[in-house]
Amino acid sequence: MKLVVVKGYEEMSKVAAEVMGKVINEKPDAVLGLATGGTPIGMYKELINMNKAGKVDFNKITTVNLDEYIGLAGTHEQSYRYFMNKNLFDHINIDKEKTYVPNGLAENIEEEGKAYDKKIDELGGTDIQLLGVGNNGHVAFNEPDKALIAGTHLTGLTESTIEANSRFFDSMEEVPKTAITMGLGQIMKSKKILLIASGEGKAEAMKELFSRKITTECPVTMLNMHRDVTVIIDEAAAKFVK
Ligand code: PGA
Repeated sequence: MKLVVVKGYEEMSKVAAEVMGKVINEKPDAVLGLATGGTPIGMYKELINMNKAGKVDFNKITTVNLDEYIGLAGTHEQSYRYFMNKNLFDHINIDKEKTYVPNGLAENIEEEGKAYDKKIDELGGTDIQLLGVGNNGHVAFNEPDKALIAGTHLTGLTESTIEANSRFFDSMEEVPKTAITMGLGQIMKSKKILLIASGEGKAEAMKELFSRKITTECPVTMLNMHRDVTVIIDEAAAKFVK
């Protein structure tokens, strides 16, 4: 694992955007695995600026997102499809037909998960997968558990995740309790992984990751088994990393 410790959120966003930009420039028709949450917003802003300045071209790019809430339509302001449009896709020269987010309204989520995995495989897999991490070490919506599921699947959210995500909703009750998420097996198939994290809330998860112990009770530790992981975190998140 390559570890890059930066001063703060802004620098994390810039450095991460450069990594992503390099992948795009080296392979103009790359498949990018993207993530939602507070963490990547700054990175997406950088990519928008780079796109407007002619430094990266999304014309031939395909994207696949990690997850989506169950029951929210893409037009719902808290859905991850809406997030991606608002924070990235609406501002760059990408063909939206080539941007994939799991369908949280699918009648049969199991089938949707299988079809999503098949789609990713047909695209040749992701060239880079961007990841944030939960305070509890979750990756996408793969929560700490006795076992993890490899493929895209339906999952319940833990109390800590519901609470963390409630900052985006009017009340706790409105936060969906279930989601469809890519599994760790699919995530680990990505050719390259880019993990970003900022702030002290992520320090414990980063400590676990760099303890080199692998446990399903802290899903992010699975990344220790991948050959090409770059971790860009700020000093606060790196507080306990030795
Ligand atoms: P955050 O979420 O970027 O909003 O902190 C990350 C995550 O839960 O994976």
